[in-house]
Amino acid sequence: MPRSQTQQTATQPANLPSLHEFAEKTLGITVWPKIREIFDAFAPEDGTPGSRKILVRSCNGAGKTTALAAICNWYFMTYPDSIVLTTASSWNQVRWNLWGEIRRQARAAKLYDGREVTMFETKIEVTEKHFMIGISPNIPENAMGFHAPRILVAVDEATGVTREIMTALTGNLTGEHAQIVLICNPIDRDSYPFEAEQSGDWTVIHISAFDHPNVENDSEEIPGAVSRTWIVDRLKSWTTELTQNLLDATRGLYIKWLDRWYRRSPMVDARILGEWADLEHEGFIPLDLIKARVWSRKGIPRERWGDLPPVPEGAPRVRALGVDIGRGVGGDATVYASFEIYPDGPDLQRLFVSTYDENLMEAAERIRNEYEECCQQGIELVIAVDDTGLGGGVCDKLKKDGIPHFPVQFGASERGLFPGKEIANTRAEMYFLLKEELLEGTIRLLDSDRFHREIAAVRLDRHEGNHRYKMEAKNITKRRLGRSTDFADATALARYGLKLREIEKRKKFIP
Ligand SMILES: Nc1ncnc2c1ncn2[C@@H]1O[C@H](COP(=O)(O)OP(=O)(O)OP(=O)(O)O)[C@@H](O)[C@H]1O
Ligand SMILES: [Mg+2]
Repeated sequence: MPRSQTQQTATQPANLPSLHEFAEKTLGITVWPKIREIFDAFAPEDGTPGSRKILVRSCNGAGKTTALAAICNWYFMTYPDSIVLTTASSWNQVRWNLWGEIRRQARAAKLYDGREVTMFETKIEVTEKHFMIGISPNIPENAMGFHAPRILVAVDEATGVTREIMTALTGNLTGEHAQIVLICNPIDRDSYPFEAEQSGDWTVIHISAFDHPNVENDSEEIPGAVSRTWIVDRLKSWTTELTQNLLDATRGLYIKWLDRWYRRSPMVDARILGEWADLEHEGFIPLDLIKARVWSRKGIPRERWGDLPPVPEGAPRVRALGVDIGRGVGGDATVYASFEIYPDGPDLQRLFVSTYDENLMEAAERIRNEYEECCQQGIELVIAVDDTGLGGGVCDKLKKDGIPHFPVQFGASERGLFPGKEIANTRAEMYFLLKEELLEGTIRLLDSDRFHREIAAVRLDRHEGNHRYKMEAKNITKRRLGRSTDFADATALARYGLKLREIEKRKKFIP
């Protein structure tokens, strides 16, 4: 572990331009007002000392990583007695994202060409007392014990960095000239940056996507950064537009953009407005959306809950059945979820059936019975069965018995239902569909708190390899929720089955 000795006095800075000038002229970065605010806080143009503790909380794509990399490169080049310590929420983020940008800037502007500098993937070293390094956020010991007349700690994606690492890193900031810059997307209040802001000790800079020149001027002034197109797309996914008149009493719940009002949600707050939200604790489908799409059985006795409002005379009778097969371990149930389809919508969710002790043959038998009963009543039953692992046995039996159904492998490739969205697999596509239908209000769910909490518990994640969207692994959700999300999965399956039927029908019409 590199350690450098203390108690030297800070040397004079090298004769380099100001940070602002360096960023603009040497690196070719557009210094728009918010970036300027960050640079001014860090290294004022008049040469007075910058703020020791700076926190930037911002929307996505504002240029946070670009600005932080510029600060690191400028500081390192300006102060020959400095150490720059950098980290981010994961080692991949450090290596590819922050250091990708640090290296890219260095290469493009030939910052270190012709100097005695050794460059590594996550380290630039002049001497053993003057270096810049990427530190893994997983190993607190590696973040301790650095001393130099000037130290800069630079953290990207800081809400994802643990308190242990932050404590280890801030332990190095003992010197007169030490500075720390935290950059984050404010997605988690249970985090070091949130507490930093609350303490009142930090210079806080806040960036909303609406401040960005690309968005203000509807241009591509800064290619690659946030844009109006991105905001339009995100608003569709993350919120609903207000269709009635806005009541004064609820004004705080909405934001206005381009003369339209949208309901605020944790995703909108954190990712677009740069405001603190608890996204890390929020599922992909927010609980308030789920609650807004429940159909009430008030006034209907419990034993008659299976009786739904009649489908209009003469309309085709269609029912959807989704079956999530229990794994037989850890108390997972096999759950049957179904919807009654109404020609003028919305589709209503019927009763759930859940069983804990059914074997695969019994499950196949139950599906077959349901199918035959529907046939007798002239109802088309659209069946989707979880074909992952054990479920395969049920599908084999159904196939053998000639019961039409859609076997759905959760890990299989998506069907392209959402062009433009990078979705890793079928389970994620199922949840994107469920969310879309809830947002559009074309379905109504059963009224059960337990079930609603299950849907809301399922979080969005990224595939490690291709960075496409997937849902968080089932066992992680299970650990947090205390049970498996079988009811939610069965519900999403039932909806997905209907969609597959629609695609199949459409295909039949294409010669
Ligand atoms: N001020 C700028 N000048 C030049 N290019 C910029 C500027 N801001 C952003 N970019 C470019 O836009 C892209 C996105 O920027 P960057 O990755 O820094 O944003 P971010 O805020 O860190 O995004 P995320 O929220 O995904 O972490 C990059 O390709 C970067 O080069
Ligand atoms: Mg970034």
